[in-house]
Amino acid sequence: QPQQLVDRFKRQYQYLRLSITDVCNFKCNYCLPNGYQPQSSKPSFLQLNEIRRLINGFAAMGTEKVRITGGEPTLRKDFTRIIETVRANDKIKKIALTTNGYRMAKSVAEWRAAGLDAINVSVDSLDPKMFHQITGENLFHQVMDGIDKAFEAGYQQIKVNSVLMKGLNDKDFAAFLAWIKDRPIEMRFIELMQTGEMDRFFDRHHLSGSVLMEQLLQNGWQLQNRAMTDGPAKVLKHPDYQGAIGLIMPYSKDFCADCNRLRVSAKGQLHLCLFGEEGVELRDLLQQDWQQAPLQARLFSALQQKREHHYLHQGDSGVRPHLASIGG
Ligand code: GTP
Ligand code: 5AD
Ligand code: SF4
Repeated sequence: QPQQLVDRFKRQYQYLRLSITDVCNFKCNYCLPNGYQPQSSKPSFLQLNEIRRLINGFAAMGTEKVRITGGEPTLRKDFTRIIETVRANDKIKKIALTTNGYRMAKSVAEWRAAGLDAINVSVDSLDPKMFHQITGENLFHQVMDGIDKAFEAGYQQIKVNSVLMKGLNDKDFAAFLAWIKDRPIEMRFIELMQTGEMDRFFDRHHLSGSVLMEQLLQNGWQLQNRAMTDGPAKVLKHPDYQGAIGLIMPYSKDFCADCNRLRVSAKGQLHLCLFGEEGVELRDLLQQDWQQAPLQARLFSALQQKREHHYLHQGDSGVRPHLASIGG
């Protein structure tokens, strides 16, 4: 029985966030305001064989859920084959996707057939103009069509991500609530994080999630229990609503205590935290099937370096890349 992924603070890691590309076709103002900047040489992201070995290594050490992220993961031509590759490991119980929704209307049925279990899609505003202003793309209707198609393809519930920002989409809050009244959507409000080079943007638009939390609790929303492989959202339900609300509050003081996820970048670097230290190279150990033992040993020893908290707070000097480069 190989070692399990446990750190010095007794946290267990059953949730892998695997980025498969840095490329994105949107220009979200909180993430890639100037869009993805193509490199001079074509970047080489993990190939199917490397992904297979990576998943085998993690699964042998207790990983049960894999979330595929990016960049925009669905831009990869072999995206469906990547789902199949992860699916081929029967220790992985859940495969999830985080997407901007661009390809969803066209391909969601194919992804479902390949074994994709869950979808988180970003919709930052229900007003097409504001959606355009935030994402840089006039694709509101295409993304909404994608959500309809996902339900038609058989998904019972979809999670929708919105980064709620003061002076921009905060006035959509009531519209989002109305939208989930009769829809099985978990509407997640994500507190803006200070990433990349956007200090002024952050100061201008950051909205505290805890204020939202208090409002909701006062209005009959009730906090739900959290399952082992769930992400960081606090989930609330209300008897009058079919949908649910998730609040992601990375600045709350106990945010890191129940961290259960590790990240691998599109070029095969292990990141112990979204904000923290430089990545640990894994790719050299993804080249041959016999490398499973050294791969697992490296994973375990790297994990012992994981810190107790992220570097998101003011005054911390750690690395804070934009999220497209590390998969959110
Ligand atoms: P589930 O797996 O469905 O619970 O989703 P998730 O919330 O883990 O995934 P998703 O990709 O939808 O991420 C939503 C937001 O949560 C993104 O902005 C992520 O960057 C953020 N997030 C997820 N994990 C962490 C984390 O460990 N630290 C921080 N600071 N943010 C995180
Ligand atoms: N702050 C908060 N959320 C962010 N995301 C990207 N950048 C940021 C940021 N600076 C979110 C996207 C998407 C998820 C993968 O990450 O909105 O929902
Ligand atoms: Fe692309 Fe997602 Fe970043 Fe928006 S948040 S620019 S969709 S990677």
